Amino acid sequence: MRLPAAVSAAALAAVGGTTLQKEFAWMSWAGTVWRLEGESGAVYVKRAAHLGGELERTKWLAGRLPVPEVLGLFHGFGDDWMLTRAVPGVPLSDPSLGWEQARVARRLGEILRDIHATDATGCPFGERGIGHVLTHGDYCLPNILVVDGRLTGLIDVGGAGLGDPQDDLAAGVWTLQYNYGAGLAREFLDAYGWPPMSDRAIERLRRRYSR
Ligand SMILES: Nc1ncnc2c1ncn2[C@@H]1O[C@H](COP(=O)(O)OP(=O)(O)O)[C@@H](O)[C@H]1O
Ligand SMILES: [Mg+2]
Repeated sequence: MRLPAAVSAAALAAVGGTTLQKEFAWMSWAGTVWRLEGESGAVYVKRAAHLGGELERTKWLAGRLPVPEVLGLFHGFGDDWMLTRAVPGVPLSDPSLGWEQARVARRLGEILRDIHATDATGCPFGERGIGHVLTHGDYCLPNILVVDGRLTGLIDVGGAGLGDPQDDLAAGVWTLQYNYGAGLAREFLDAYGWPPMSDRAIERLRRRYSR
């Protein structure tokens, strides 16, 4: 993988040493993510067409929620490249936790409840509206990093801002079913504190999340 020179230089400055160990981390419809390791640490670089919105949201969320530290936004080979410092932890769905699925679902609900309870005064993103809260915008398991179940990193906040809590609830229901199959939505919704829903309503909610 070729990195724009400015990205390599900034990554090396952040992680130390003279060479970067590059490890492919993730590919989605939107872009590609690499983990870059140096002598004294690691950073992530995300390549996609437009990352200015994610950059601004990540910066605004810093100090309010555990988001990665942004090291810079660069342009090269026709794309944006966003460099962030590696956050410790593994996705909440990582088998290394040794958690049963219902426990993952409940923790996912508790973490979301806390995110939605965050003070969003002055938030310049999203839409103010009745019942609107600070939403993550893509509340899927790979974007929720934990150490021993404690939240250490919210990743991928390009869609964060004021919004309907049901948008994140829909993503949560969707990601649980995608990872584990149906049947965990109630654990998740109960832990969040959402009023009981019928199976049909839960399925409607799940389908609200479309990628
Ligand atoms: N700063 C970071 N620290 C730790 N892990 C990260 C960091 N940035 C990205 N990752 C990992 O890479 C994955 C993909 O990054 P993400 O921004 O979610 O890309 P996408 O928008 O394609 O989903 C994340 O789910 C996470 O596991
Ligand atoms: Mg992601």
